[in-house]
Amino acid sequence: MIKTVGLFIFRCKIPEFGAKSEKNLSGMYLCVMKHIAIVNGPNLNLLGTREPEIYGGQSFDDYFQGLQARWLGVTLTAFQSNVEGEIINELQRLAKSGTCDGIVLNAAAYSHTSIAIADTLKAIETPVILVHISNVFSRETERKTDLIVASARGLICGLGLSGYDLAVRALM
Ligand code: DQA
Repeated sequence: MIKTVGLFIFRCKIPEFGAKSEKNLSGMYLCVMKHIAIVNGPNLNLLGTREPEIYGGQSFDDYFQGLQARWLGVTLTAFQSNVEGEIINELQRLAKSGTCDGIVLNAAAYSHTSIAIADTLKAIETPVILVHISNVFSRETERKTDLIVASARGLICGLGLSGYDLAVRALM
């Protein structure tokens, strides 16, 4: 859903604020909020208690509240599933909605195994930035394989939860 946050006679672009402009039927430029969707894969609902020495002690819900407060001019949404097909359905739904300006995806362990999610990223046009909280390249060998990164616009890896903030910034 697009929320109108102001009416501008001239075209405006305020990337830091997160707004974009769209021409309405009477030729006026409406300043609307961008929609950036975060999609989290398996076990990321356990952040805060799951291996805190790797992923930190903060829950995603707690981090997400702060992120929304930082990006007040952006409609930020978050979705999490432990099920591969549900992640694919959500990516397709967001892409089809026509109102989503970008997706921040942490496919978690599916990053290392899922040809299906890689195929979805190839099939959709919405820009996708991948996030890994931990530096997967300094961990076990099986985490060094990433089957989906080639189909994404970029990857932010090993910077903790702040990777989500940087990914939102990259999509502005
Ligand atoms: C992760 C890294 C993956 O290897 C792991 O399976 C996860 C989280 C990360 O954010 O660091 O669940 O994607």
